[in-house]
Amino acid sequence: MEKKNCLILALDVTDRENALRIANEVSEYVDSIKVGYPLVLGEGLGIVKELAELAPVIADFKVADIPNTDRLICEHVFNAGADAIITHGFTGRDSLDSCVKVAEEYDRDVYVVTEMSHPGGVEFFRPVAETIAQMAADAGATGVVAPATRPERVRDIRKIIGDDLHIISPGVGAQGGSAADVINAGADWVIVGRSIYNSDSPADAAMRICNEMKC
Ligand code: C5P
Repeated sequence: MEKKNCLILALDVTDRENALRIANEVSEYVDSIKVGYPLVLGEGLGIVKELAELAPVIADFKVADIPNTDRLICEHVFNAGADAIITHGFTGRDSLDSCVKVAEEYDRDVYVVTEMSHPGGVEFFRPVAETIAQMAADAGATGVVAPATRPERVRDIRKIIGDDLHIISPGVGAQGGSAADVINAGADWVIVGRSIYNSDSPADAAMRICNEMKC
């Protein structure tokens, strides 16, 4: 993903019409569009190809299965036109290796969740976040997902993965995180959903976040 605005849209609307309208309105401000279960379960995987015409698509399926199932999921997602996939890491190195291998075959990206951004994210994830981050680096992932709601954790994760891996960071706006703070803490991109797609003017909301980050 090319870094221009440091902003990724989390497009968690559930219907095609809204998804395409919002994506069109904000496409000049975002470096990528993240789609997940809400939109794909609502409209089918075909929406990925339509959105990919506007910006590279990150498929946030938080893949968490045995290596063979992970491989099949990644193949489907990349064949559908996604530029990147988000996987979990807690399923272990062999599962992650399977995703990285498919991504290499397709020349696509893999991001690994190290710690979730919501309050419950500290319950089980925090004790293993550093280990997962290290595993992501060892496995050759493109980057990790770390919480904008806790910039100090982004700083910790950055120390572990060094400068070679990217950090994409959700939790700005609706979940309380600040875009500027988390970029200063070492994130490469912020991921923003509700603050943009629920706004009366998604383009203005996206532009404001870009201006705040001055990335
Ligand atoms: O609406 P909001 O800006 O809170 O959206 C954040 C997006 O990032 C959602 O799509 C959510 O599923 C995703 N996400 C997250 N925390 C993680 C990983 C992904 O909030 N650790």
